[in-house]
Amino acid sequence: MTQPIDTAHLWMPFTANRQFKQKPRMLVAASGMHYTSDDGRQILDGTAGLWCVNAGHCHPKITEAIRRQAGEMDFAPMFQMGHPAAFESATALAAIAPEGLNRVFFCNDGSEGVDTALKIAIAWQRMRGDTLRTRLIGRERAYHGVGFGGIAVGGIAGNRKHFGPTLASVDHLRHPLDIGRNAFSRGLPDHGAEIADEFEQRLLALHDPATVAALIVEPVQGSTGVILPPKGYLQKLRAICDKHGILLIFDEVITGFGRLGAPFAADYFGVVPDMIVCAKGLTNAAVPMGAVIVRQDIHDDFMRASAEGAIEFYHGYTYSGHPLAAAAMVATMGVYRDEQVFERAAAMAPYFEDAAHSLRGLPWVKDVRNLGLICGIELEPVPGKPTARAFDAFLKCFWDKGVLIRTTGDIIALSPPLIIDRAQVDQLFGAIADVLKAQSAAPQTMESTV
Ligand SMILES: Cc1ncc(COP(=O)(O)O)c(C=O)c1O
Repeated sequence: MTQPIDTAHLWMPFTANRQFKQKPRMLVAASGMHYTSDDGRQILDGTAGLWCVNAGHCHPKITEAIRRQAGEMDFAPMFQMGHPAAFESATALAAIAPEGLNRVFFCNDGSEGVDTALKIAIAWQRMRGDTLRTRLIGRERAYHGVGFGGIAVGGIAGNRKHFGPTLASVDHLRHPLDIGRNAFSRGLPDHGAEIADEFEQRLLALHDPATVAALIVEPVQGSTGVILPPKGYLQKLRAICDKHGILLIFDEVITGFGRLGAPFAADYFGVVPDMIVCAKGLTNAAVPMGAVIVRQDIHDDFMRASAEGAIEFYHGYTYSGHPLAAAAMVATMGVYRDEQVFERAAAMAPYFEDAAHSLRGLPWVKDVRNLGLICGIELEPVPGKPTARAFDAFLKCFWDKGVLIRTTGDIIALSPPLIIDRAQVDQLFGAIADVLKAQSAAPQTMESTV
């Protein structure tokens, strides 16, 4: 028999540590659409890990590229030095980015990508003589990672309240979730585009547009429970930014690389931002990597503004463009292209939508919202026990149904690998339906979670 694992020393991220350690949920292997748990069960991955394994787990071509690179050159500095794979990967990324966005700054994850983009925005405005433009605008319920920049523009109270004032000069736009008017919308909600007008009418009127450097938004808010942009909403934000010289940053950490059936949400919506932050699916999550894809003229302004021989942007990470990440990334782009992974997602989206909306009418389900291969299922909370209902469903899906889902508050958020097939879509939503029915038939069996 294998030794039980000592769980005492690891302080787990975004986890109820004490509860987890009483009954650990351990994953030990992965392939394609499945994990293997330590008790030998196959677990259907309804969340692509954490919205990141878009091409499915342990893709042999990606694994092989990492193995080859690890044997050839483990690390090379990118400060005043270079290595071919980093340049090759930037070229590969620029090739699938929206037109005009073709300069790439590498980092290690989404949080660093957000901080990098915010710094580029403020530095660029200053470089052009707009020294007053230091204000950053985010949105309520936004998730932009956990750096101080990211939590400042982010809008999840729990992620902010313990950490002091974060950045000065930040404000937030109201989020567009409106279940009252949009419940059970299929795809983009009809109502709420006018909330974008508040950016101009309230925030810019209050602060003076001449003080605002950038607006950052997730085209689809994911971590906070799937909040979709109402029809026309992102277009309005783009127009307001253009009118007032404000940079628009799309945080595409979860929407990048095919989640909506197009390379980026920018392509899906036909709204091109000035910078895109991406990570996760960038390497199919096999090696950590993040990137900011920047409009060429913004990059070129940095090049022009400094004396020849000077460093143009005082920013970077030891592991920017790490060889293993770069190799994984080039291989991942090849897999996405050769196996038409984004096209597969687009083709599966209508079936996924139907399956998602088949949950309508089940106990506790107060909204279902979906786009591409994203779905949010919002549940009525247990009175006085917020989060308990959804978390119980998560536990039962894992232990009883062999299905991995993710929850935030009382919302189930689904984001499977983009290679999911119809039978697996049925299994995923079938498991959730069974669990909700069982909860309703025998509420006393709910595992206590709060
Ligand atoms: C929209 C968005 N931005 C940023 C991040 C942070 O990424 P990371 O956890 O890689 O730092 C996430 C993570 O889920 C995200 O969803």
